[in-house]
Amino acid sequence: MRAVDLIQKKRDGKRLTKEEINWLISAYAAGTVPDYQMSAFAMAVYFRGMTMQETRDLTFAMVETGEHVDLSAIAGIKTDKHSTGGVGDKVTLILAPLVASFGVPVAKMSGRGLGHTGGTLDKLESVKGYRVELSQNEFIKQVQDIGLAVIGQSDKLVKADKMLYALRDVTATVDTIPLIASSVMSKKIAAGADSILLDVTVGEGAFMKTVAEAEKLAETMVELGEEVGRKTVAVITDMSQPLGQAVGNRLEVLEALQIMQGQGREDISRFICSLAQIMLSLAGVEKPLAAILQHLTDGSALKKFEEMVAAQGGNLEDLYRPSSARVVTEVFASESGYISDLPALDFALFAMKLGAGRAVKTDRLDYETGLVFDKKVGDAVQKGERLARIYSQEKLGENQLTEFKKNVKIMRVQRIPKEIIKIIS
Ligand code: URA
Repeated sequence: MRAVDLIQKKRDGKRLTKEEINWLISAYAAGTVPDYQMSAFAMAVYFRGMTMQETRDLTFAMVETGEHVDLSAIAGIKTDKHSTGGVGDKVTLILAPLVASFGVPVAKMSGRGLGHTGGTLDKLESVKGYRVELSQNEFIKQVQDIGLAVIGQSDKLVKADKMLYALRDVTATVDTIPLIASSVMSKKIAAGADSILLDVTVGEGAFMKTVAEAEKLAETMVELGEEVGRKTVAVITDMSQPLGQAVGNRLEVLEALQIMQGQGREDISRFICSLAQIMLSLAGVEKPLAAILQHLTDGSALKKFEEMVAAQGGNLEDLYRPSSARVVTEVFASESGYISDLPALDFALFAMKLGAGRAVKTDRLDYETGLVFDKKVGDAVQKGERLARIYSQEKLGENQLTEFKKNVKIMRVQRIPKEIIKIIS
C-alpha cells in the first residue's frame, strides 16, 4: 500500500477499509509514513469525516500501536475518567480521590495541556516532588495500597496517539469527531479500566462548540467503549465559561484543596459530586448525593488526595503554599448587574500569555500564574466589587487590563448556567 493513495481516497470522500487503516496507522507508528503525509490525512478526515466503522477501525488500530495495561492484580471494578478538554478543569484532582474515598480503585493516566486546554499532569507537577512517571508495577502497587494513582500516560501506550496528537495540535485538525473519539478511546481501552466516565465538554472553551456535536462525539465514544466490554457513560458538560474559579496550575490545585476542605463554591462542589455518583455507580456502588457531598467536605477526599501526593513523592507542605506569582492585580466591576458571560477561550488565551499554558509543545510553563474569578456567570455584582484576581510575574499593561475587563460581560438580566447538560449511556 502507499500512503498517498489512502490520503487521496479519503480526500475524495471514499471509505477506507480496515486493512487500509491498519496499514496506515502501523506504518505511521513505525516511522515509515512521515508526518507530512499523516498531516494531509488528518486534514482529509477533518473535511470528509469517517463512518462509524472507519472510526472503530482507527481506534482499534491505534490501540495496537502500544502496550495494554493489565489492572487485573487490583481487586474490584476499576474506574477511569476522561475529559475532552477544558479551561480551569481541575475535576480529576477532586473526583479521583473522592471516588477512591468510597473504596473504589482509581488508576488514572492523565495528559498535559493541549492547545488552550489545561492538563491534570501540569497541575500536579506544580507540587514540588510530585512524580507523574511511575513504572507499571509502581502504579499498580500504589492503587493496591491506597486505592488511587494519577500518573502520566506511559510512552509505551498508544504510540500512534502521542504522535498524531502532537501533529493535530499544530495542523488545526484537533476538533473533529473521528480523531477525538479514536484518540480518547484508544487511550482509555489501552489503560485497562473496567468502566469509563467521559466528560464531553461543550462551548467556547471546548473542542465541541455545539451540544449537537458534543452529543455525536459522546455517542461515538460510548459505542466504542461498550464494544470492547467497558461500561461507558458520557456526560455533556458546559465549558462556555471556565470551570470553577481558578485557571492556572498552582491556582487550580489550591482551588481543589479548598473544595476538598468544604470551602469551594457550591455549584462546582455539586457538579463534582454528580460526576462522582455516576463513576461510583459504574463501579456498582450506589450512593446518594448527600453522602458524596459529605465525603467531599469532611476531609475524606482530601485525605486520599494527600495520600496520593505523598505516595508519588510530592511535598505536602509545598502543596499548601500559596502562589508565588510576583504581581496580583485585582479587577473591579465598573457597573452593577449579573455576570452574563465569561468567555472561556479568551480567558484561556489570556492565562496562556501569562505563562499558565503552552502556545507550542516545547513552551515551559509558569505554574504560579493565572486567574481567579470571584464572580461567575449568573452571580450578582455591585459596582466596585472585586470580579477577579490576575496572578502574573510582570505588572500588567493598561491594554492587558482593558482586554481582561472587556471579556467580563455584565447585564441586567440573570442567566443561570447549566453544568451537566445531558447524560449518554
Ligand atoms: N483529548 C484527547 O485525549 N484527545 C483529543 O483528540 C482531544 C481531547
